[in-house]
Amino acid sequence: MTKKVLLLPGDGIGPEIVAQAENVLIHLIENFDLDVELDTDVVGGAAYDLTETPLPEQTLNKALQADAVLLGAVGGHKWEPLEREVRPEKALLDLRSRLELFANLRPAMLYPQLVNASSLKRDRIENLDLMIIRELTGGIYFGEPRGVFEEGGERVGINTYRYSESEIERIAHVGFKTAQLRNGRLCSVDKANVLEVTELWREVVTEVGKEYPDVELSHMYVDNAAMQLVRAPKQFDVIVTGNMFGDILSDVAAMLTGSIGMLPSASLDSNGKGLYEPVHGSAPDIAGQNKANPLATIMSVSLMLRYSLNRADLANRINLAVENVLGNGARTFDIAEGETYISTTDMGEQVVTAIK
Ligand code: IPM
Ligand code: MG
Repeated sequence: MTKKVLLLPGDGIGPEIVAQAENVLIHLIENFDLDVELDTDVVGGAAYDLTETPLPEQTLNKALQADAVLLGAVGGHKWEPLEREVRPEKALLDLRSRLELFANLRPAMLYPQLVNASSLKRDRIENLDLMIIRELTGGIYFGEPRGVFEEGGERVGINTYRYSESEIERIAHVGFKTAQLRNGRLCSVDKANVLEVTELWREVVTEVGKEYPDVELSHMYVDNAAMQLVRAPKQFDVIVTGNMFGDILSDVAAMLTGSIGMLPSASLDSNGKGLYEPVHGSAPDIAGQNKANPLATIMSVSLMLRYSLNRADLANRINLAVENVLGNGARTFDIAEGETYISTTDMGEQVVTAIK
């Protein structure tokens, strides 16, 4: 059956990088029997400018019907003064929640060709390959009550950090299953010494762990995890954590690899449907300059092929092509070591040519 893929380029560099990922998909459709139908629509600030909402009904409906969504990036200075409800970021949060994409996979792996791009010393990061699994539809991002209220003659800001047992269980299972497919080690990150909600998190993860005797489970407080990630990141295989801690730690992990422009992510529901996007943002400062690194978006297509389109063979072809292109010295400005770098479109074309 033909699968449906929705492209949502979004804002800033989004359209430029998604165009390169689209070329990769078209190449696979034309040359490798990929049975996929592509559609494109607006999201984020671009959607707001057209419809006064960052997630138009039409976009949401297409996303609900698609087998997979590829998103570029949303947001930019232009839309920062808007009300929270219509800011570009709200589209992303609503897509996650409406599509029930509770499991966010954020791999951080170092390409050997880019070892000098990291801010850490070579021996700390050589062969780094870790996976952060972030709970994406709960926790303090979505807990109620929330808001800014008047109280005793002043304003009080409130957000609620809550997790139910079932929410913790389902993300824990993703963590253990991912660890089984990798090196068998799972580190659950919490703040159980202070926050009751994460004390429950630790208890439930431990309980679920009994079903996975082949996975070695450890627990770490989030402050220590942040420190360990920059001190000795190779101690980690898979990290599982809540929404906000995962947001923060995944940025740290991304930077370990030297280029946030290289890292893809997948946000999955319980049926294999997914939203795929680069970890980096919309980079408005370089938008429209044909300068952005399209590799994180292209690698997001690779994750899509693996997790939602059942074509791990093509995912591997993309990964190999990217490694070859980097091996040949192709660099966009963010990963360039010297003065010379190539454009977004050149990088995209080189990857397409390298897919064998
Ligand atoms: C991310 C981003 C988002 C988040 C923002 C843009 C809402 O930082 O995907 O990590 O906080 O989840
Ligand atoms: Mg973030």
